Amino acid sequence: MSVAEIFETMTYGPAPESAAEARRWLDAHAPALGHVIDNRAVQPREGAYFESVDPATGKPLIKVAQGGAADVDAAVAAARAASDAWSRTPGHVRARRLYALARAVQRHARLLAVLETLDNGKPIRESRDIDVPLVARHFYHHAGWAQLLADEFPGQVPVGVVGAIIPWNFPLLMLAWKVAPALAAGNTVVLKPAEYTSITAVLFAELAREAGLPPGVLNIVTGDGRTGELLVAHPGVDKIAFTGSTEVGRAIRRATAGTGKRLSLELGGKSPFVVFDDADLDSAVEGVVDAIWFNQGQVCCAGSRLLMQESVAPRLLDKLRARMERLRVGDPLDKAVDIGAIVAPVQLQRIRELVAQGEQEGATVWQPSWACPAEGLFYPPTLVTDVAPASTLARVEVFGPVIAAMTFRTKSEAVALANNTPYGLAASVWSESVNTSLDVARAIKAGTVWINCTNVFDAASGFGGYRESGFGREGGREGLYEYLRPAWETTPHPPTPSPSRGERETAIDGGQLPSPAHGRGVGGEGVPYPPIDRTPKLYIGGKQARPDSGYSRPVRAPDGCHAGEVGEGNRKDIRNAVEAARAAGWAATTAPARAQILYYIAENLAARADEFAARLATMTGADPDAGRAEVEASVERLFTYAAWADKYDGLVHGTPLRGVTLTVNEPIGVLGVACADRYPLLGLIALVAPAIAMGNTVVAVPSERYPLAATDLYQVLDTSDVPAGVVNIVTGPRDALARVLAEHDDVDALWYDGADEGACEVERASAGNLKRTWIVGRPPRDLLDPAQGQGREFLREATQVKNMWVPTGD
Ligand code: NAI
Repeated sequence: MSVAEIFETMTYGPAPESAAEARRWLDAHAPALGHVIDNRAVQPREGAYFESVDPATGKPLIKVAQGGAADVDAAVAAARAASDAWSRTPGHVRARRLYALARAVQRHARLLAVLETLDNGKPIRESRDIDVPLVARHFYHHAGWAQLLADEFPGQVPVGVVGAIIPWNFPLLMLAWKVAPALAAGNTVVLKPAEYTSITAVLFAELAREAGLPPGVLNIVTGDGRTGELLVAHPGVDKIAFTGSTEVGRAIRRATAGTGKRLSLELGGKSPFVVFDDADLDSAVEGVVDAIWFNQGQVCCAGSRLLMQESVAPRLLDKLRARMERLRVGDPLDKAVDIGAIVAPVQLQRIRELVAQGEQEGATVWQPSWACPAEGLFYPPTLVTDVAPASTLARVEVFGPVIAAMTFRTKSEAVALANNTPYGLAASVWSESVNTSLDVARAIKAGTVWINCTNVFDAASGFGGYRESGFGREGGREGLYEYLRPAWETTPHPPTPSPSRGERETAIDGGQLPSPAHGRGVGGEGVPYPPIDRTPKLYIGGKQARPDSGYSRPVRAPDGCHAGEVGEGNRKDIRNAVEAARAAGWAATTAPARAQILYYIAENLAARADEFAARLATMTGADPDAGRAEVEASVERLFTYAAWADKYDGLVHGTPLRGVTLTVNEPIGVLGVACADRYPLLGLIALVAPAIAMGNTVVAVPSERYPLAATDLYQVLDTSDVPAGVVNIVTGPRDALARVLAEHDDVDALWYDGADEGACEVERASAGNLKRTWIVGRPPRDLLDPAQGQGREFLREATQVKNMWVPTGD
């Protein structure tokens, strides 16, 4: 027999991992696990439990408490009571606690891994070699952030009590992704694990208690979606951190709208795996195995769409089918198994239904020749071809071991296909050309792009999505901001002063300002010329546009006199403005060029400072000096963001990858901005300038009451080389227009500075495409004060982080 033949005929013997220790732990806790509140096991007040089942055998493991309102109340009360002391615990002490947690995870790594595998069905190879080591790494990394917090995040304080809700696909890892940064930043936590996989969270809480974590700092309440809902609705929670389905993410967005709770959402995906003709195809095949068969494909960032350059597609598919024949599905505790069990019957059913639907739509389904174990919840690795981009399997997140393959011809077609999804969590690009791979990585809308690798994670690199994959990052410097807020927010804020009425007469005709060129002519026989009428319009696509409604609204000076009229914008005007903003291509403009244009706007505004100051004084009745100060602050703000445009750099994260993990701050896209009345000019510029400095285009709704400063600004924009569509201004009813922006699927983010009811409406309406919202004036913020009105917070809100993993070497 030749070596090749021996190799071909070799079979695997069983290599079972012992579950004895894990069973002992379960027996010690039988018949039921309680919640963990204040470091104590607490049985549910309502006495309700449900069964946690081993998906590989269908046998029950242990009963788990179903958390009710009283349990959630108790957990939140414990977290609240511990919050003050924990937030004031010195960074070094918190660092020691987190370090102890990392150590505890390592000491109990095997028990954690085996219990995780029993409860979830994932192969022991993965829980032992990937999940648990990454959990430890998260606590080490965040022990470091606790140590450095005061120096590296000056002026930031913890958010308070964090409600964390996690899914079942990576129970411990998702716990770590939320608990580690939350605790490092000084928050306390109530965590609700997923109903299918609660066991390791309880074990972790026990380890945390043994490691000395003070009571109340980490609390676990188990239960299903109803328990999650109670936690989301609880008034004692300051922030919700959620990972799970897009549908539940939307429901949480709606439930938290207007409550002031912070929110980060890590949702689903339909990530592309793009293979160019110059890729190393054998490596790419191993990449596909990792991308879609890791954790049975129950991975939010699973590479579930295989996009192949046409010329290599047949060869790649042949290699892939050959590799699939060699994969092993079976007992997750067997160390030689590649693919374990699907988490629950309902999930298996969903996978079967989606694949059947794909077949009905004409897809060709290929599975290896061998059969899965008959008992337990198993599904074979599945390759689907003949899929159209619009078909179910190309669009819908299957969350199972199913990959849909499609072809492309050119690079631009690859990018178009890759982005042909409402999601934007991750992507994988395979090409030996550094130009192609980095170019495509930049063009794909996703929070993480792996080049010639896939499913690589590390605590130092923030993970999270673009578009309907959610917002916020987990891990890295960027992730920590999710658990911090500016210190000024906690200090009592003086009530917003209403603009004082000036003594002076206001100019009234047609909104014109008194100026040397105005109203001084002589219309014969010493009668002054009437001022020339000026009709401010909307500003869309670089042009003044009449409002679609055909109506204008009067602008009244504080004394009731007519100060002018502006267009009454409506839904159609917003639609046109969004179209113009989308078409502007501003993101491709270089940062120095954007800086130059911002400086130019500042220059032209400064040249007309007197006119703007007078306009502000006329409109608001405020002191002329106040108007002048507002114009000066606006000019300075433009300088600030011109300065920032080429300085808000990315990073190179220190991950374990041999290569580089590049972090870039990318523009979000089309940003809606709805402004308050308080500073009619600065209120607009303070928001528009950072947005465009970072490469976004803007549809702005200026102050509803004092819109004339914004309409005057068109002329400044027109003379400052601002390309058409970069800034669009639609005057009219602010809250109604903000709502249209919130509902518009092609608006990527919305900043709202206005009343609480309007803020609530904006948050609720934005749930449709899960756009990022920022309620600028909650808590009340003085935009004139540089500490509150400018800086990195604005730049963070104007960008989304993309991490690109680029391995080097052979
Ligand atoms: P899910 O989104 O329902 O569950 C995630 C977590 O949210 C669980 O802890 C659950 O108890 C909780 N939850 C459910 N309803 C809630 C509510 N109304 N308010 C607060 N919390 C709530 O996900 P599920 O049902 O387990 O899986 C369904 C589909 O979601 C999967 O087939 C998959 O497509 C997707 N999914 C995506 C995940 C991801 O990591 N992006 C993770 C898990 C599921």
